[in-house]
Amino acid sequence: MASSMQSSRGLLLLLLLLLGVLAGRSLADPNRLLLQQLHQVGLVNILDQTVRPSAPQDGKAYDFIVVGSGAAGCAVAARLSENPDWTVALIEAGGVENIAHHTPVLAGYLQETSSNWGYKSVPQKLSCRGMNNNECALPRGKVLGGTSSINYMIYNRGNRRDYDGWAAAGSKGWSYQEVLPYFLRSENAHLQGLEQSPFHNRSGPLSVEFVRFRTKLADAFVGASVEAGLPLTDYNGESQNGVSYVQATTRNGRRHSAYSAYIQPVRDLRPNLHIFTFARVTRVLVDAPTKTAYGVEFLHKNKPFVFKARKEVILSAGAFNSPQILMLSGIGPEDNLKAIEVPMVQNLPVGRRLFDHMCHFGPTIVTNTTGETTFTSRVTPAEMVSYLLAGNPATRMSSIGGVEALAFLNLERSKLPKDWPDVELIMVSGSLASDEGTGLKLGANFKDEVYDKVYRPLAQQQQDHFTLLVMQFHPKSVGRLWLRDRNPLRWPVIDPKYFKDEEDVEFLLDGIKASLRILEMPAMRRIGARLLRSPVPGCEKFEFGSDDYWRCSIRTLSYTLHHQVATCRMGPASDPTTVVDPELKVHGMRRLRVVDTSIIPEPPTAHTNAAAFMIGEKAADMIRSEWI
Ligand SMILES: Cc1cc2nc3c(=O)[nH]c(=O)nc-3n(C[C@H](O)[C@H](O)[C@H](O)COP(=O)(O)OP(=O)(O)OC[C@H]3O[C@@H](n4cnc5c(N)ncnc54)[C@H](O)[C@@H]3O)c2cc1C
Ligand SMILES: *[C@@H]1O[C@H](CO)[C@@H](O)[C@H](O)[C@H]1NC(C)=O
Ligand SMILES: *[C@@H]1O[C@H](CO)[C@@H](O)[C@H](O)[C@H]1NC(C)=O
Repeated sequence: MASSMQSSRGLLLLLLLLLGVLAGRSLADPNRLLLQQLHQVGLVNILDQTVRPSAPQDGKAYDFIVVGSGAAGCAVAARLSENPDWTVALIEAGGVENIAHHTPVLAGYLQETSSNWGYKSVPQKLSCRGMNNNECALPRGKVLGGTSSINYMIYNRGNRRDYDGWAAAGSKGWSYQEVLPYFLRSENAHLQGLEQSPFHNRSGPLSVEFVRFRTKLADAFVGASVEAGLPLTDYNGESQNGVSYVQATTRNGRRHSAYSAYIQPVRDLRPNLHIFTFARVTRVLVDAPTKTAYGVEFLHKNKPFVFKARKEVILSAGAFNSPQILMLSGIGPEDNLKAIEVPMVQNLPVGRRLFDHMCHFGPTIVTNTTGETTFTSRVTPAEMVSYLLAGNPATRMSSIGGVEALAFLNLERSKLPKDWPDVELIMVSGSLASDEGTGLKLGANFKDEVYDKVYRPLAQQQQDHFTLLVMQFHPKSVGRLWLRDRNPLRWPVIDPKYFKDEEDVEFLLDGIKASLRILEMPAMRRIGARLLRSPVPGCEKFEFGSDDYWRCSIRTLSYTLHHQVATCRMGPASDPTTVVDPELKVHGMRRLRVVDTSIIPEPPTAHTNAAAFMIGEKAADMIRSEWI
């Protein structure tokens, strides 16, 4: 234990040292050799990003103003600025990425940095009982790259039926056949074994690869899933059901964020693309009589500025902040706007719906193997040197926070067609113990008691363990987001109402049972896999492993995977639950679109990052065709 703590500190120290070296090194006097080495391993990006701060010019006009540099915002800004005749401003509230963002194994720590907005839900009655004050943590990226710079890098597009459903509900142009080209356009696949697949493209901006570092625990999980009857599948290909090693948005084992994929390679080549960091948009400027957006107001390092838009304002501020900015601009539900005394421009159900994907953080499985579980503190100096200086993409450093394999299951309870999964099992070769309580526990707001009783002992034992997170794809529970006042610097109020619908819990319960069946398979037996039998605090009164025990555990170890959608729901104007039309234009408004995951109308059968890129690509096409 003591030695693992020491090496943990050693790792952090080394990283800090390197960061210090990078930050402190004068660019006028670069150490050639170091620069060369850094170039080789892609670290020069980091040096590069620390220079060239853009200073905004008050009152300046751009053709397009993109608010927010997440997956969707970077994609749309990059594509629009391909046209040298158009000027594009990309405005981001956060700063720039550094080496920690680029190192996949550190994913969990990023929520503890200023790259996270750090939102929390209002206290929940029916979920997040294992969290302090029953508040679920709702992290979002606040940095160039947005949430794609702090997420877990899982690349997952969703099910054909998701998109066909959007189209059937009136979002013309969004069927699977019609969105697939945009997924492809964004993708630069390096997926071994899938070179010939028509579902993957090798020349887009965003790198997608299998994680090159794999543990025996993942091999056992994939093997056991196959033994249990799941096909090996490319879940982004023809059929989603089955099991697969995870596909990740990494490049040579480094995070490939929206910024590194879309903006950084072209930034210096495009004088028509201006990027502003630490610039927080507080309002869209709207001409109320004509309902036309003509610019934005923002604070740059706490000073007020205005930019004018000659063509369009594009909100890509994410599922919490795009609705917030709309409401601050007088576009939202009448009652909420009245309550916060913002004059109403357009009455729309902004924030009225909020869907998310809830997980149960477990079951946790212990094995009789050793040395496999991902502990950030057990990354060896040799692995660090190999990764950082020799550029080796196959060390523990490139593990995407321990996520190694995914299984997509269809449950008996389901009323959906058999090719439309209900739950996902996310195999993580670790747990809350993976960082000895220094990152994940705080990030998710877990109570100390939960950590101490369930996870702390795992950090102290030699035997390996891993977690099967069970996630429900199609929850019925619907939450809400609203504003308490019109101060643009205050948090929106977020009430996700997880598990309000009892059946959502039953889906997770059945998912847990399915995961336990996989544990019975020979590949699992061979590593001595068995359920960790430490009762979750608050659930001791139920017989361990009974259905009621698991129901209690589901409402306690409630862990969102942060796939919030639908706060600016897309659909035809005739649908009173929608905010934007199928061209992503805000209903009733001119020159104003929302382009991010807030437009997704229903919880998809996917993690939401890939879709955010697709939405950005498709939006760029629609905008281009309108203005050319
Ligand atoms: C911890 C975590 C892990 C995740 N893991 C995965 C995963 O492994 N795979 C996956 O597919 N999905 C994952 N997701 C979800 C996925 O990353 C997001 O859904 C997706 O990246 C959202 O993209 P976006 O473009 O809609 O918005 P965001 O990426 O959230 O972009 C919004 C941007 O707007 C900026 N902004 C907000 N307000 C303002 C303002 N007022 N002024 C200026 N700028 C502003 C923000 O700082 C941010 O940069 C994860 C999410 C989180 C939080
Ligand atoms: C692959 O991506 C490139 C660049 O975005 C695009 O031009 C091309 O059409 C894509 N190929 C396919 C098959 O979609
Ligand atoms: C783990 O358990 C399995 C099954 O009991 C056994 O075959 C194997 O030898 C054990 N391995 C170790 C390292 O103890």
